[in-house]
Amino acid sequence: MSLHLGVNIDHVATLRQARYRTMLGAHNVEPSILQAALEAESAGAHSITIHLRADRRHIVDEDVYLLRREIGTMMNLEMGNTPEILGIALKVKPHFVCMVPENREEVTTEGGLDVLGQKDVLRASVSQLEANGTRVSMFIDPDLDQVRASAEIGASMIELHTGTFANELGEKRNHEAARLKAAAELGQSLGLQINAGHGLTTKNLAELFIVPHLSELNIGHSIVARSVFVGLRAAIQEMLEAMKGYTYA
Ligand code: PXP
Repeated sequence: MSLHLGVNIDHVATLRQARYRTMLGAHNVEPSILQAALEAESAGAHSITIHLRADRRHIVDEDVYLLRREIGTMMNLEMGNTPEILGIALKVKPHFVCMVPENREEVTTEGGLDVLGQKDVLRASVSQLEANGTRVSMFIDPDLDQVRASAEIGASMIELHTGTFANELGEKRNHEAARLKAAAELGQSLGLQINAGHGLTTKNLAELFIVPHLSELNIGHSIVARSVFVGLRAAIQEMLEAMKGYTYA
C-alpha cells in the first residue's frame, strides 16, 4: 500500500472565520470548506482531516455534518476527549477519529496526548467509538510508554507527533527521527496502524522516511500556505509527489 495523505483543511476554515465568523449563514461567505474538501479529494487526497475544537475557532459543527455527507473519501475527525465532542463524533460516525490534547490558549496542537496518564477515560471513549464503527487513533509523542498505553486501551492506530522533528534541524532532528523510528517499530509490533503528522512539509519529508511502517500522513498548514501561491490542487499534488519517495509502506 502506498503512503496515504490526509489533508487537514482547518486553515481554510481559519480564513473563512477571519472575515465571516459572526455571519456564517450569509450568501457571501467564503472560502467554502466543502469546495476545499472536494478539491483536495480530486487532487488525490486519501482522507479529509478536520479538528472540531471546543472553541470552534475554525471548523464549526455544520462543517462536520456537511463534509460527512458530501465527501467521497474518508473523514478523519481530530478531537479532544470531552463529552460534548465525543457526543458529536458518535452522531457523525467519521471513518477515523484522532484523539488530541487541546488547550484553549494554544495556537495549534502543541504536544502529544498523555495516554498513559488517562488510560481509563480514553479507553471508555475508544470503545464507544470503535463499537460505533469509527477507527480511533491516539496522537502521541514518539514515546514508547505512550505507544504501549495506546495499544492497551484498544486504539487501532497511533499518529506520531512530528512537530519536534519539524522544528529542529541537524543532530536534534536526527535524534527525533530515531525516536519516531523506534516508536513506529514498537507500534507495528503491537498491531497498531502507524500514522504521522504535524509540521510536515515537502522540504522536511525526505528526512522522515527513515521511519518504517507509516500508513498515513496528516498535513495541513504547509499545504494551505503553499496553496496561496499555486492553488490547493497543485499544493496537494506537490505533497503527493514528495511522498512517493517513501519506500517502506
Ligand atoms: N495531526 C494532528 C493531530 C494535528 O493536530 C495537526 C494540526 O491540526 C496536524 C496533524 C497537521 O499539522 P500541520 O497543520 O502542521 O500540517
